[in-house]
Amino acid sequence: MKIDLWFATPIYSHDLQGDRAFLIQQELKAIIQQEYNQILTQDDANARSYIQSRQPEHRQVLHKYDLVHTHEFILEQAALFIKKLNPKANHIEIRESWFNFYRPGDSQEVHTHVHHTHPSFVSGSFYLDAPENSGDIKFYHPNFSAPIATEEVGLETFEACYTAKQNRIVLFRSHVPHSVMPNRSSKTRISLSFNVYIA
Ligand SMILES: [Fe+2]
Repeated sequence: MKIDLWFATPIYSHDLQGDRAFLIQQELKAIIQQEYNQILTQDDANARSYIQSRQPEHRQVLHKYDLVHTHEFILEQAALFIKKLNPKANHIEIRESWFNFYRPGDSQEVHTHVHHTHPSFVSGSFYLDAPENSGDIKFYHPNFSAPIATEEVGLETFEACYTAKQNRIVLFRSHVPHSVMPNRSSKTRISLSFNVYIA
């Protein structure tokens, strides 16, 4: 008998530590309240349980606030991942970046980051604040609608969870379906999400 394992679904994760984590935390914490207050006043943010705006100016936070350390870190991490996925890719850029605020009880349904007008290659999240039990990110088999998908652990394992943890970055191909489990803590979970393109 022979079973070939083709078509893997790679997920990248890294826990940032030390001085650089401190620097990035400082950079993000300096502007986070301002962004939260601005998003709160947007109609499109009020239409969902977690607070996140779809408006273009809130999708450019790395540039809007000139978050140089965070930008450099995400680009470096994405380059490490993309080098494995597509060794010939020599220029990558982050074209969208935005904050997500999950208050207690908030969650996010299954979605992908691929739109025909915005064909991003890799997407991800960096956790600025992730209290215990504030909601794992859950990935699903990209053949989501296939009748062969199973919840049983086996060669076609259907779901994979990553715990949201402060200073953790998680990267995935933009077409991979994912959701955010409910925030069961008493505090707000804050993440910075982004889409990376091969230019
Ligand atoms: Fe997402």
